[in-house]
Amino acid sequence: MSLIPCKVLTTQKTDDRLVYMTVEKPEGFTYKPGQFVRCALPLVDNPQSDADFIGRPYSMASHPTDNELAFYIAKLPEGEVSPQMFDLKVGDTLYIDDTAWGMMSDMRLAKGETLLMMGSGTGIASYLSFMKDNLWSRFDRVVVVHSVRKNADHALTERFEALAESHKNAFDFVSITTREANVSKMNGFNRRLPELIESGEFEKTLNVELTPEKARVILCGNPDFVQAVKTVLKERGFTAPRRGQLGTLVSETY
Ligand SMILES: Cc1cc2nc3c(=O)[nH]c(=O)nc-3n(C[C@H](O)[C@H](O)[C@H](O)COP(=O)(O)OP(=O)(O)OC[C@H]3O[C@@H](n4cnc5c(N)ncnc54)[C@H](O)[C@@H]3O)c2cc1C
Ligand SMILES: NC(=O)c1ccc[n+]([C@@H]2O[C@H](COP(=O)([O-])OP(=O)(O)OC[C@H]3O[C@@H](n4cnc5c(N)ncnc54)[C@H](OP(=O)(O)O)[C@@H]3O)[C@@H](O)[C@H]2O)c1
Repeated sequence: MSLIPCKVLTTQKTDDRLVYMTVEKPEGFTYKPGQFVRCALPLVDNPQSDADFIGRPYSMASHPTDNELAFYIAKLPEGEVSPQMFDLKVGDTLYIDDTAWGMMSDMRLAKGETLLMMGSGTGIASYLSFMKDNLWSRFDRVVVVHSVRKNADHALTERFEALAESHKNAFDFVSITTREANVSKMNGFNRRLPELIESGEFEKTLNVELTPEKARVILCGNPDFVQAVKTVLKERGFTAPRRGQLGTLVSETY
């Protein structure tokens, strides 16, 4: 069986649908920022094989050097797995696959001035992992863009700000709230990201040049969000890495 039992160490629920949790890291488990792993729960009392589990992929919000694994999970009320993940308590067992997957890495991007990590919903989980990876040794400036429906969904903002504490002058957090008035004090928008980019409002407010000459982009989250932003960026000349060649844009869809 490739699934390894791991004890849940902490759970932090910010409301009735979002949880940030840490679990034991299996011995020898390795991964890179941006990767995900299959998390699984047993379907029967004494699971004997992988067939006795139901699982889904979740991105690591932790850094490979951290002692524990962290996940940021949204409960989909009609979902099979996420409500059970949401209900896990400290001391419960979560099963983790022995192998991490995923190609969403800043190392596949050519060197550039500004790195923009854009995500929707829980799609920004991996960006916490990237933030602990000393991005400022490769990029002059780092911008995290988080698009959510409601202000309450901006539950990770303070974690990002804490990780950028020693790079305050070279970091911006952009909050987009699309289904109610945005209450953030800095860099807060109320419209979808593709519109903000196309209108020029995004670049003007952030004082950033969103071109493949200057910027590098990581995109993650809702497939519609990722596709819509990708379309706008591709029109501007951004390209994915191909055949061993570095790119200007990498992405992962949920
Ligand atoms: C590479 C990868 C990494 C992921 N990382 C994370 C993560 O870090 N945090 C996280 O919360 N989720 C993440 N997901 C999504 C996660 O794997 C599950 O799909 C999600 O938790 C729903 O599972 P479920 O069993 O509860 O719902 P299901 O029973 O599989 O689906 C219920 C319904 O919801 C729809 N649905 C599935 N996923 C979503 C979604 N994300 N948004 C809206 N509708 C959806 C399905 O189409 C279906 O109609 C990731 C997915 C991928 C592919
Ligand atoms: N967030 C909640 O309060 C809430 C509550 C109950 C259930 N849920 C369920 O949880 C699931 C995931 O929720 P989520 O909050 O992560 O929502 P989501 O639907 O993935 O939306 C997250 C962000 O992505 C934006 N977006 C979606 N499609 C886009 C596109 N094509 N172009 C540009 N931006 C786009 C959304 O804008 P728009 O708002 O304009 O779509 C929103 O700002 C949803 O399917 C929903 O069923 C969510």
